[in-house]
Amino acid sequence: MTPSTLAFIGAGNMAGSLINGLVSDGHDPSRIVAADPDETQLAAIARRTGVRTTTDNGDAVANADVLILAVKPQVLQAVARGIAPRVQAARPLVITVAAGIREAALQEWLGGGVALVRTMPNTPAMIGAGATVLHAGPEVSAEQRDTAESILRSVGLTRWVDDESQLDAVTALSGSGPAYFFLVMEAMEQAAIQLGLPVDTARLLTLQTALGAARMAIESDEEPATLRRRVTSPGGTTERAIATLEDGGLRRLFAEALTAAHDRSVELSDLLGRA
Ligand SMILES: NC(=O)c1ccc[n+]([C@@H]2O[C@H](COP(=O)([O-])OP(=O)(O)OC[C@H]3O[C@@H](n4cnc5c(N)ncnc54)[C@H](OP(=O)(O)O)[C@@H]3O)[C@@H](O)[C@H]2O)c1
Repeated sequence: MTPSTLAFIGAGNMAGSLINGLVSDGHDPSRIVAADPDETQLAAIARRTGVRTTTDNGDAVANADVLILAVKPQVLQAVARGIAPRVQAARPLVITVAAGIREAALQEWLGGGVALVRTMPNTPAMIGAGATVLHAGPEVSAEQRDTAESILRSVGLTRWVDDESQLDAVTALSGSGPAYFFLVMEAMEQAAIQLGLPVDTARLLTLQTALGAARMAIESDEEPATLRRRVTSPGGTTERAIATLEDGGLRRLFAEALTAAHDRSVELSDLLGRA
């Protein structure tokens, strides 16, 4: 919980998740304002959480200690340039959740010298189970780092990196990662149906197994490799399945997939950062 006054620019999915998390953590909704051009969206968020809303981004920036930029990356340049004079006057801590926009680009659009924290959350933030990595620019104070961390912690786990370029690897791992696990779930469910299980049973067993394995891995002091070995008896069924996955190049495939996502993240940042 933080006593700051927060302004969200963009009141879509990610802003909505953060606002829900903050309000359930006890942040006073009257000290949060959300700005968005979509009045229906604003009305829904106000009804659900009790925060103040406005269709005027400049209005939201005035009096905010913390500004959270939660618009799509493609519109961030226009939004940032639009609020730059107010940001320069008010000097809030600025937190961006926009994927692929580097700090140097955002600093330029905002007029420079801004205390800026760049974050990379992921979609499970919507249910409070997110994983967010943060990077702070040199202008950010220790107190502002704590404030940024407490805001992102309201939707899940947080971790800092010292090198901004590591956010491309984070994007490849936790940013895109939920989709990799969904794909594995799809593949396991499909294979189980082919082995004769009813669709609903195949789905339920797949999901509960994924949840159980994730919880065991998180709650255990052991590494995932140790947990895997423990359920793999010599000559048994799991050993046969794991050998099939290893022989099929599963590890190499994941290495290639994450490298491809990483490289695409760099490419997109180059594209989106153009003035
Ligand atoms: N969703 C995720 O899990 C996730 C994960 C990691 C990072 N992010 C980042 O979070 C950011 C927001 O994503 P999202 O999924 O929340 O998108 P979203 O649901 O589309 O939310 C963006 C909101 O910004 C509004 N907007 C558009 N132009 C604006 C303007 N000029 N001023 C103020 N608001 C404006 C949009 O309104 P309209 O709909 O009317 O255009 C929309 O309500 C993105 O930069 C994304 O990279 C999201």
